[in-house]
Amino acid sequence: MNARLDHSTLTSMVDEQPHEFRVATAAYRGPEVFAQEMEQVFYKTWIYLCHESEIANPGDFRSTQIGTRPVIVAKSREGNVHAFLNACTHRGATICREEKGNTRAFVCPYHGWSFRTSGELIGIPDEARYHENFDKSDKNLKPVPRIASYGGLVFGSFNPDVEDLEIFLGGAKQHIDIWLRRTAGSSYKVATSHKYGYEGNWKFQSENVYDGYHPGFVHRSAFNTVRKFEGSFENRALDVAVRQQGYTRGYPEGHGTLEAGAPLESGGIDPAVRQAYTDKLTALYGADGAAEVLTNRQFLIFPNLVIFDFNIRVIQPIAHDCTEVYSYPLLIEGAHDDINSNRMLDAQTRVGTAGILSADDIDVFAGGQNALKTEVFEWITLSRGLGKEEVKPDGERVGVYSDEAPQRAFWRKWCALMAAAS
Ligand code: FES
Ligand code: FE
Repeated sequence: MNARLDHSTLTSMVDEQPHEFRVATAAYRGPEVFAQEMEQVFYKTWIYLCHESEIANPGDFRSTQIGTRPVIVAKSREGNVHAFLNACTHRGATICREEKGNTRAFVCPYHGWSFRTSGELIGIPDEARYHENFDKSDKNLKPVPRIASYGGLVFGSFNPDVEDLEIFLGGAKQHIDIWLRRTAGSSYKVATSHKYGYEGNWKFQSENVYDGYHPGFVHRSAFNTVRKFEGSFENRALDVAVRQQGYTRGYPEGHGTLEAGAPLESGGIDPAVRQAYTDKLTALYGADGAAEVLTNRQFLIFPNLVIFDFNIRVIQPIAHDCTEVYSYPLLIEGAHDDINSNRMLDAQTRVGTAGILSADDIDVFAGGQNALKTEVFEWITLSRGLGKEEVKPDGERVGVYSDEAPQRAFWRKWCALMAAAS
């Protein structure tokens, strides 16, 4: 059992002054903070489970995690979405070992107990060997008490008293809405995931999602490699990063965004197909609305869901110094093949397992974790743009492309949750 950190230790990990915003390196180090993060962040708030397209039909299921707890999400025969702990109520064996699929029932591989996709225990082999008063009714799979979805994104929470999902999403809702408009009136369909891992804390990846400060540096060689392809996305992305056009935004709910200042489009699409797509967006949302929809945007739903225009990423914490990232390319139902194959290509080449950008980033994360082991330095600083950002009445803070406004929003929320129950 790890020792619990007290309230003052936790609140002192984030030090906000008018001129500087610091985070204690101890927040990335050691199993104590990690165990408390699972309890007070991952089991107290909403966590993304899956996309609705992955459980479209009765019997469809997906296995995932909330924090380090294994979870199954399934659609029942009646068409309701359920989520359970992925643990057999007999003796705790993992009941579902597949990442996704379709089934009439989950059958435990250990002793064969079977459960409906609604979680109800329906079969025990040799049931006559149990006492006549043995109660099956309390042996259903342990449910995740709260499930809700917004814009096709299914979330769950182990906290029965968690706030409503839309309240939790707060300022991020408008970005989800814009992201949905990219489908031009259709819907997203999630493709098979790419996975990668790194030997570092999960928060390194969360903080990196909206970091407009780093692309012109750590990704410079990757961008330069592809720069020769005239009109490539990366060419213009580097220009944006270098010229710092665009915005960062941090929200009181802990979410944050990085937005380019102008539309960015990937190359490789037939110009006529691209024009037809833009025309459709313009007809639906007007010229300004279409430009907004086509503006490159990536955001983090606190604490671990990353949304890109073409991709969903889920950051799964494994231990304080070990993280797995699942990257799901997003296709648009009914879109031209050029559009979808380009979205696949973007997802694979940029943020997939062998993507040119992920490899740069995870090398930095692992290096940072390694340095933190030494305890030689006490604080990191997230102060870029502090005191220079626009603060809106609802608490949204808007910075320039390279500001660390969203990272600060992340840490304020982290600190509030970590301190709340101590
Ligand atoms: Fe599942 Fe025994 S642990 S049937
Ligand atoms: Fe990066």
